[in-house]
Amino acid sequence: MAVVFTPGEIRQKYDQAAAWYDRVEGILEILGIGRLRRELLRRAPGEALEVAAGTGKSFQHYPRMRRITAVDLSPGMLRVARRRASRLKLEVAFLGADAEALPFPDRRFDTVVSCLSVCTFPDPVAALREMARVCRADGRMLFLEHGRSDRERIGRWQDRHADGHARHLGCHWNRAPLDLVRQAGVTVTVARRTLWGIFHVIEARPGPRP
Ligand SMILES: C[S@@+](CC[C@H](N)C(=O)[O-])C[C@H]1O[C@@H](n2cnc3c(N)ncnc32)[C@H](O)[C@@H]1O
Repeated sequence: MAVVFTPGEIRQKYDQAAAWYDRVEGILEILGIGRLRRELLRRAPGEALEVAAGTGKSFQHYPRMRRITAVDLSPGMLRVARRRASRLKLEVAFLGADAEALPFPDRRFDTVVSCLSVCTFPDPVAALREMARVCRADGRMLFLEHGRSDRERIGRWQDRHADGHARHLGCHWNRAPLDLVRQAGVTVTVARRTLWGIFHVIEARPGPRP
């Protein structure tokens, strides 16, 4: 059984990480994550909701003139994101909220985005269902996520170290984001894996409502 953290524990971990998160995550950006964010987000039409936006590493990659709403559990991460938005002269509405109970009406946004976050959601399927709920029926859901590599040796290594790794930032690096997105009842339209089979770029539609 994988270790599981409560939303309160996740909030605390990321409040503590906010001061150094950008420096460490910067290594991933250099390895190609920045390019993947750019490719993904240029397909973000209309008004966008970014769930678990963290320090706002994705903001610069949205097409200009987009209205963005950013939510996250961690006030510390959102403080850094606010500073980034102001530096980039972007108008972003910020909200401290849990992805598993989004404070928005059904079908409110044209695009719903999650980057590198499905790994940390305490209940990823619940969060993904919420994201689908607030996305317009013909809107777009965009994901840049990481998970268990499909290269068996790497995947097994991730499995062996998953609990130890999760203790730092609550990141479960051997989850299967594509399967989780499908389990949430979302219709996947584009999916590709890259960077040693670890990273996923996924486009989806929220799918029919019951
Ligand atoms: C690894 S960081 C990714 C941040 C950002 N999306 C990025 O691409 O750099 C994960 C983020 O998810 C947030 N998070 C985790 N669980 C959450 C939840 N249930 N609701 C809202 N935010 C959550 C954390 O606070 C943290 O900011």
